[in-house]
Amino acid sequence: MSRSPDGAGSPGRGRYGEQVFRPDQGGEGDRIDLGALAYDDTTMARLRALGAGPGWTCLEVGAGTGTVARRLLAEAGVAEVLAVDRDVRFLAAHPVTGLTVLQADVTADDFAPGLFRLVHARFVLMHLPSPQRMVARLSRLLAPGGVLVVSDAVDLTTATAPRTPYTLAMRAMWQGLRDSIGTDVSQVPRHPELLREAGLEAVAAEIHVPPLLPGSPISRFWADTWERARGAMTATGLVDDARIDEAVAYLDSPRCTGLSPGMLTAWGWKPASRAG
Ligand SMILES: C[S@@+](CC[C@H](N)C(=O)[O-])C[C@H]1O[C@@H](n2cnc3c(N)ncnc32)[C@H](O)[C@@H]1O
Repeated sequence: MSRSPDGAGSPGRGRYGEQVFRPDQGGEGDRIDLGALAYDDTTMARLRALGAGPGWTCLEVGAGTGTVARRLLAEAGVAEVLAVDRDVRFLAAHPVTGLTVLQADVTADDFAPGLFRLVHARFVLMHLPSPQRMVARLSRLLAPGGVLVVSDAVDLTTATAPRTPYTLAMRAMWQGLRDSIGTDVSQVPRHPELLREAGLEAVAAEIHVPPLLPGSPISRFWADTWERARGAMTATGLVDDARIDEAVAYLDSPRCTGLSPGMLTAWGWKPASRAG
């Protein structure tokens, strides 16, 4: 059993990148890039609307393949980005000026890389043992006047939707990821509340749901995600291999009417007058 350094993990649970989504498993970087293709424009529009631009110092938490980190530099023109991940192989593969790569576990008590104008974490907190503790910790990394932006998945349909191959697979995926690596999206709608509890101000949130068009990045992302989580999904007893295959075929067919899980983005500002 693997436990998070902050000790909040549930007994019997592993961690992201171990049983599921191993970075050394061929194509994992491509899977993360498919998610990035589906969400990066929305993320960048929000970060720029919040003011990310020249002079900003940014921390990208759980940076994955680094698409947001690099776009912050190239498009928003920020001064520098520190991109942190437990595994930096994808980040190190694409160095750019202004990007510093740091291999670190962001749940470790000694994770204190400095103060930043922007701290951004996308699809990371939902995989960690205590999003509440993480929001508090990331808030402390904000310079006065800085903004914390956290995005995670919200599934708007799984619980109430009619049983289709797609909704069955989604249910099995969330359950399987919860059982295997502790992923929990049930509390994501509480993110704005956590930001307020951490002392941040002018908290707000929005949701983006990309369309599940056959062959689209998001449809390919879910198909690949199910492939990598297949063992965890079948272990729930909710689906077998044939059901997953059926769901993958459904995602790729013109009769697919499913609604993708969306991305909830919440943000809040550290008061400019209070330091520390
Ligand atoms: C679902 S991916 C999201 C990647 C990227 N943020 C994006 O949205 O494209 C989650 C990332 O968080 C990283 N990660 C997971 N747990 C971590 C931890 N405890 N410390 C640092 N990085 C972590 C993983 O290695 C992976 O790159």
